[in-house]
Amino acid sequence: MSTCKICNHNLESVINFGEMPISNRYVTDPGISDEYTYVLEVAFCPSCYMVQLVNCVEPTEMFNDEYAFYSSTSSGMEKHFKEQADEIIHFNDDMERPFVVELGCNDGIMLKHIATAGISHLGVEPSANVADIAITNGVNVAKIFFNVESADQIKKEYGAATVICGSNVTCHIEDINSVFEGVSHLLSDDGIFFFEDPYIYDIVSKHSFDQIYDEHIYYFSALSVKNLAERHGLELYDVKFHEVHGGEARYYIRRKSGESNDVTVSVQKCLDKEKSINLHKIEGYKEFKDNVDKVSSDLKQILVDLKAQGHEVVGYGATSKSTTLLKYAGVDNSLIKFISDTTPTKINKFTPGTHIPIKPYEAFINECPEYTLLLAWNHKNEILEKESNYRNNGGKFITFFPEVGVE
Ligand code: TMP
Ligand code: ZN
Repeated sequence: MSTCKICNHNLESVINFGEMPISNRYVTDPGISDEYTYVLEVAFCPSCYMVQLVNCVEPTEMFNDEYAFYSSTSSGMEKHFKEQADEIIHFNDDMERPFVVELGCNDGIMLKHIATAGISHLGVEPSANVADIAITNGVNVAKIFFNVESADQIKKEYGAATVICGSNVTCHIEDINSVFEGVSHLLSDDGIFFFEDPYIYDIVSKHSFDQIYDEHIYYFSALSVKNLAERHGLELYDVKFHEVHGGEARYYIRRKSGESNDVTVSVQKCLDKEKSINLHKIEGYKEFKDNVDKVSSDLKQILVDLKAQGHEVVGYGATSKSTTLLKYAGVDNSLIKFISDTTPTKINKFTPGTHIPIKPYEAFINECPEYTLLLAWNHKNEILEKESNYRNNGGKFITFFPEVGVE
């Protein structure tokens, strides 16, 4: 029986996806015989409500100097992180000694704006290749993992932080109690900690199970974050939502103040919304599993049918997420000719586990396939706009959340 990484209570299994490769480890040889795999299983803690992976991959297997994910791959992400930086700059207006710490600053997509504004800051980023790009962008970076020890070191060197933030990183860190403890050490008394990650409410309601992969150890809700913050003398005081990465929530946390059961209106609304689809009970996740299995089998079927009718299908966007989708649905190179992607380090490699070739964007333009599987569905608006010619010329996108369709 597996136990909760936060509160040690027994976990209840939600879905066991079986053997999976590392989502961001693109392979150079499709005939590879020793590809690293682990069992991907997601479970629910009925005590603290945290949805989490049962088995975790060693962080150095995922985040190293070959880390393939670069934040600055779309204009939507650039805009999102400019807005986030503006919010931080505005918050620091009232602070005597502003100091911003970002966990997992990646290529500096957000912190470069903080650096330009002349605000003292530090990006904590263990993946050296992306950290080096951030440094080139004028960002001050420490190439380390964030935990209670490194938080102490940072405080000794720079003083307390008025803002600690992290986007798409908090859910990556298995010892999340250590992160919260570190935040509690490093945060100034009037400082804020916010983080944003894929939102379990969106995942369950859109059936978007491709969010479940090695890097995403935790699938947060206000229900679980409220409990986690309280364990560390902190409180969740606000939650905001946005569509980046297919639906995320941003949780705002500060030192605990006021009555012990004090909950702001925005947090209470969010808790009620989550309870309305039973995210505080295992029942809420049973239906999710059925929906996931339906999407997987429908997706495979449409691709098998198109192939039988002599149509060729390519993929658009070799996202980290699509590793789970393709592997669980059993979609490989026999059903998808190639996937086009704009990230230079992915091009001419093969998808983990399913070994579909990844080609540059020009291959999509030259091939002009009849059908394109929109793997980068979280960038749908941007892509449909960019590919209006393709669609005007009869090209069709296959989408799959919340259900499989052609548009
Ligand atoms: P992400 O969903 O994890 O951000 O990854 C998006 C991937 O999709 C990334 O490898 C870049 C690729 N991509 C394209 O190839 N074309 C596009 O227009 C967009 C927006 C992304
Ligand atoms: Zn728990």
